[in-house]
Amino acid sequence: RISRLGIRKVFTGRGDLTVEVEVHLDDGWGRAIAPAGASRGKHEVKYFPDEGVDAAIDVFKRWVEPGLIGMDAVNQVAVDKKLEEIDGTWDFSKIGGAVAVATSMANVVAVADSKGLWPYQVIGGSLANVIPYPLGNTIGGGKHSRGLGPDYQEFLILPYGAPDIYTAVYTNMEVHREVGRILAKEDPTFAGGRNDEGAWTAKISTDKALEVLSSAVKEVSRRLGVEIGLGIDAASSSMWNGKAYVYTNEGRELTPREHFERIKSIIEKYDLIYIEDPFHEEDFQSFAELTALFKDRLIVGDDLFTTNPDRLAIGIREKATNAVLIKVDQIGTVTRAHETVRLALNNGYRIVVSHRSGDTESGLLAHIAVGFKAPIIKTGIMGSERVAKANELLRIWDHLSGVARMAKIK
Ligand code: PGA
Ligand code: ZN
Repeated sequence: RISRLGIRKVFTGRGDLTVEVEVHLDDGWGRAIAPAGASRGKHEVKYFPDEGVDAAIDVFKRWVEPGLIGMDAVNQVAVDKKLEEIDGTWDFSKIGGAVAVATSMANVVAVADSKGLWPYQVIGGSLANVIPYPLGNTIGGGKHSRGLGPDYQEFLILPYGAPDIYTAVYTNMEVHREVGRILAKEDPTFAGGRNDEGAWTAKISTDKALEVLSSAVKEVSRRLGVEIGLGIDAASSSMWNGKAYVYTNEGRELTPREHFERIKSIIEKYDLIYIEDPFHEEDFQSFAELTALFKDRLIVGDDLFTTNPDRLAIGIREKATNAVLIKVDQIGTVTRAHETVRLALNNGYRIVVSHRSGDTESGLLAHIAVGFKAPIIKTGIMGSERVAKANELLRIWDHLSGVARMAKIK
């Protein structure tokens, strides 16, 4: 039974103001912080009410707290439905998605505490024993690098050949370090700068970034004997001006067709296995065309779906992608995100549980990924907000003492 709630203003690792919610039960408690995005999808729930964080706190005290007190916390669906009912809009524009998601996740943590379980067991049940591979961000561009890096937002690696989670995390760290070494050697202007997600920022082109990453991956893969795949998050909505894709770094604009061909040739040239948001968030058609061409690679929708089951349903109908990014905060509650996960899995889609660029010291995302049985967790590589999730995966691996196994990627 929920006996008391609390809320405070706190910060993400980027310094964004956000909220932390505490849920107290008769016999346990939990807290959670809402992360904050920078390249937000148009169809995400609203982060704060119009008046900002103070209004969110006010609304929480006035409506959310009295509404939830006395409820059975074990019934996560009922708690999350109550949040929807208190708000009354689909996109949480009254209480704000930050309040909704922090409350929903804190409830999971409180239930775990009261039952003597870990959060991943509350979300995924007693059979949750699959550890996701960490998808790591090595070089960054786009909005996360203030428009000064390459035009695509993220250059990613997936150590899918690692036999255990420790080796997977270590491999990502080693590639990140190696990329830094190569950049320092090849780019005289590189000063070791890292962006919002701890990825290296350098004034280089997309092709240069992929070349540097390819060499780093080759070197580390040979040294550690681990197979590593390459990927990108183009975050194309950030490049789309309504008519063309603006390549700021390259100083030119590409028509939708030229951009499509560019994406296609990059996938082939660098053998990418993971391609997120290659087109802007309304272009289901181009997604479908690309997915049909590259059936054996992960074509992933982030801004395209915004973890929204209705958006994903359109994607499934149009055969737009074969994977969906899951960010609980995009849709506001654990229950809603779970609904999207079920829809994805029932239709043969892969799921990738993801952090935000403005994330926190919390490791809860690791529990969400294991609980949702995701084969991949997108959580960056360097910086405490990113390492918090990786370290929590290491702890979960130990907690499963012997029955943990790595997800199947290929
Ligand atoms: P974000 O984007 O800045 O909105 O968190 C990250 C992503 O596009 O995956
Ligand atoms: Zn993305």
